[in-house]
Amino acid sequence: MKNIAVIGSGTMGNGIAHVFAQHQYSVNLVDISEKALEKALETIKKNIDRQVSKGILTEADKSQLLSNLHLSTDMKKAVETADLVIEAVSENTEVKKQIFKQLDEFCPPHTILASNTSSISITKIAAITRRPEKVIGMHFMNPVPVMRLVEVINGYATSTETTNIVLEAAKNIGKVPTSVQDYPGFVANRILLPMINEAIYALFESVGGVEEIDTVMKLGMAHPMGPLQLADFIGLDVCLAILNVMHEGLGNPKYAPCPLLVNMVEAGHMGVKSGVGFYDYKQNSKELIVAQRFRKN
Ligand code: NAI
Repeated sequence: MKNIAVIGSGTMGNGIAHVFAQHQYSVNLVDISEKALEKALETIKKNIDRQVSKGILTEADKSQLLSNLHLSTDMKKAVETADLVIEAVSENTEVKKQIFKQLDEFCPPHTILASNTSSISITKIAAITRRPEKVIGMHFMNPVPVMRLVEVINGYATSTETTNIVLEAAKNIGKVPTSVQDYPGFVANRILLPMINEAIYALFESVGGVEEIDTVMKLGMAHPMGPLQLADFIGLDVCLAILNVMHEGLGNPKYAPCPLLVNMVEAGHMGVKSGVGFYDYKQNSKELIVAQRFRKN
């Protein structure tokens, strides 16, 4: 496997393109927006510079990495010679289905089609194509160049051969893959989101304030970040959407989102990206301020 195409150059797509290009794959990074591609290249350069300053990469590695990377708005051309395509566009089932239909038409028969979705069924996406055995989930973690895990999700029809090729590819880019089955939330979100939801319930029921709840989990459980701060980073709308997928898909009331989460999303309080969540954030910054409305005393 030599040629990779990444569809969608946002938060996740640029990181995925970065790590494959860093490990000597030829990467076509595609987006519908020229502006998004420009921003992606800027981000990749910034992240490479950070790696150079930490001694992870040299200046020579930097130019090699950049020469392995090709930006394009023409998806058809970009995937015609791809061995593996990784889709990382917005979390929207209809958009993803449309893209997989096109990928199935444009790609050669051997191409494996992967999705970086965090909650949409791989089985459902695969069923749109004529090659469901070659469709798989590759769930990278944010920030991609730093986080080592890739959750590899096997759809109902994914073949063992496809899984093995993808596990190998993940290892080749320095990641640690885990192979899991396609059920709502997979493993990572199935465990993470109920924990976040429970933290929101603890706040909702005044068991503790924002700082108390996050401090318990940081100092008591050695989590690098408390669950409420993490929810702000993920985006409260994203947390709500994943919980809804799990609630509907698994049919178990234990996954029902806390009413406080629903209210906050409806109010437009999405976390870091809107500047307000469980914490308030300084403009264009991840620096947090504890919001008075959630103070316990
Ligand atoms: P994003 O919103 O940052 O980027 C999405 C990009 O896709 C945008 O640049 C947009 O212009 C582009 N796009 C939209 N439609 C397109 C099309 N038809 N063709 C080509 N490009 C198109 O989204 P983000 O956060 O990178 O998420 C991407 C995927 O990764 C989603 O499925 C999300 O659930 C998943 N994910 C996100 C994580 C995160 O922390 N942000 C973590 C793990 C998975």
